[in-house]
Amino acid sequence: MTTELIEASVIAKPPLMPANRNIIAVASGNAGVGKTWFAITLAHALAYAGRKVLLFDGDLNLANVRLHLGLRARGDIAAVISGEKKLADLVIPYDGGAGCNGFDIIAGRSDSEALANPTEAMVVKLRNDLHTLSRDYDWVVMDLGAGIDRSARLLAATARTCLVTTTAEMAAVTETYAYIKMTARENFPEAVRIVINKAPTIKQGQIVYDALFRACRKFLKVEPPLAGIVRRDNLVMESLLLKDALLSYDQNSNAAREIEQIARRLDKDLRVR
Ligand SMILES: Nc1ncnc2c1ncn2[C@@H]1O[C@H](COP(=O)(O)OP(=O)(O)OP(=O)(O)O)[C@@H](O)[C@H]1O
Ligand SMILES: [Mg+2]
Repeated sequence: MTTELIEASVIAKPPLMPANRNIIAVASGNAGVGKTWFAITLAHALAYAGRKVLLFDGDLNLANVRLHLGLRARGDIAAVISGEKKLADLVIPYDGGAGCNGFDIIAGRSDSEALANPTEAMVVKLRNDLHTLSRDYDWVVMDLGAGIDRSARLLAATARTCLVTTTAEMAAVTETYAYIKMTARENFPEAVRIVINKAPTIKQGQIVYDALFRACRKFLKVEPPLAGIVRRDNLVMESLLLKDALLSYDQNSNAAREIEQIARRLDKDLRVR
């Protein structure tokens, strides 16, 4: 059996792989729900809570963590997959870097042709490298591409938890249900938690979560807990226009406080000490 075939046979059975103890994946059924912004802010909040954090841009087709923060790439993830570079060579320290109130970022170039259609073996190599590097951190937050794309699911499959993010819009909720249905079939539903982002109010966010939870319980026999609700906040857009992280721009904004609460809860419930 070639290495590629061996890897592929492992991929076919995600439940057999141990969940990585400190990787938080941020995924969604449809695009534009705020995953990248949420992943950046969650990484920052965990760092402010004193944790050593790496933010990994796992959106292989449209890596844009860098664009949100106005950073220059330190190389291409394709070079890591080909073995020319180590994943650690790509680390960009942000706001002082990991261990100094800020966090580290690994963000590939968004124009990487080689990653437009990665093979399963390529994604598994990347995932294995990330698992090795994750030992140097308390938390690794992984921003994923939208949808049930195979690469995103492979990267999410061994995360400690997968934060499935949705807005309160009907179309987004329907796609979120479809995403959970797909992951439930792959047998790792216990890792899924729900984030409602851009909620008009906390109450409306809660109504959306309750409806989603009921549908998951009735039809999929899974009960994904709520990671948290984040309200729509104009300061998110303002900080993004200035290429500044929200927690640096305004730590007292509603969205900042709501994410800090989510970070504290995840850290308390899931951190392996
Ligand atoms: N809580 C919020 N309040 C207001 N605006 C928000 C909030 N969260 C995200 N946004 C805005 O939503 C837009 C989309 O965000 P983002 O790029 O993070 O989405 P995404 O899910 O990563 O998209 P894609 O699926 O294309 O990767 C951005 O303009 C961002 O500023
Ligand atoms: Mg994104």
